[in-house]
Amino acid sequence: MAAKKTVLVTGCSGDGIGEAFSLSFHKRGHRVIATARDTAKAKTLRDLGISVLPLDVTSESSIAEAVRRVDKETECKLDILINNAGVGYAMPVLDVELDVARDVFETNLFGRVAVTKAFAPYLIKSKGTIVNLGSINGVCPTPFSAMYNASYAAVHHWSDTLRLEMRPFDVKVILVITGSVKSNFLSNLPVKHLPPDSLYLPEAKEIEAGVNGEKAGGSTDTHVYADRVVSNILKSSPQEHQWVGLLATRIWMASTFLWATAWDLLLNDRFGLTSLKENMAAKEREQAQK
Ligand SMILES: NC(=O)c1ccc[n+]([C@@H]2O[C@H](COP(=O)([O-])OP(=O)(O)OC[C@H]3O[C@@H](n4cnc5c(N)ncnc54)[C@H](OP(=O)(O)O)[C@@H]3O)[C@@H](O)[C@H]2O)c1
Repeated sequence: MAAKKTVLVTGCSGDGIGEAFSLSFHKRGHRVIATARDTAKAKTLRDLGISVLPLDVTSESSIAEAVRRVDKETECKLDILINNAGVGYAMPVLDVELDVARDVFETNLFGRVAVTKAFAPYLIKSKGTIVNLGSINGVCPTPFSAMYNASYAAVHHWSDTLRLEMRPFDVKVILVITGSVKSNFLSNLPVKHLPPDSLYLPEAKEIEAGVNGEKAGGSTDTHVYADRVVSNILKSSPQEHQWVGLLATRIWMASTFLWATAWDLLLNDRFGLTSLKENMAAKEREQAQK
């Protein structure tokens, strides 16, 4: 086995991706520090003897406390940081609540930035690895998730820049461009329905089916996904952009080989946008005939 690594993972509550990463490293004999906003929600990991620490990635004091606790537990040793914590937000742009949108950026982008800054000295010392969870939504302009999409486009660009800036220190930066993976992501969405005055209300059912994944045709098993990601991280020359999870390969192909606005053709019919336009035109004709 490769040398034992010390790994810190954010967002390990429940049975989502963070928990699966922790289990995958743990079963390979590495030392895992799993973190969660509410450590009671990481009982499965604690019961296995995995160290669980509180960490809210949007709180400076929580991050500072986590650094202190890691110092104490590992004598300042950290080889791998996994920036996994994140939140979704599915809502048409015209219905977006700005406070919710800001929270999405606060967690998905600034949370990753703050945690990375806090643990960078340890990763530089160990010539370690920073792993940033990305999303196919950061590449594909999935309708009705614009703020989430934008937060991940920002994460991708930040991560790519960080990769260059960390190279002089021999710290690797991996971006995991994640497709659809089974987790609690959809049940954790901060808002689940359109507001009553939404212009998109006539297609609410179609839209909600699109954003809640019913149209994605399933999702990759969390542990299969986590094992693939962890195997890549532990390679001596890992893929720096790893596309993994349902739809990831298709999105990679579309973004690599098609023209930039091909999404308009690929996505238009999937989210009720065409029928919304047809319904509106029919209503206008009805009004004109009255
Ligand atoms: N599942 C997918 O298909 C998919 C696809 C692309 C990318 N991703 C990304 O993968 C990551 C993991 O998501 P998941 O699918 O496992 O969803 P999940 O089950 O909802 O897990 C998200 C985790 O992030 C935590 N979190 C949220 N805000 C936090 C904060 N301020 N501080 C610390 N932790 C916080 C949640 O903790 P609480 O329980 O306290 O809320 C939870 O543990 C996210 O970054 C997500 O955007 C997921």
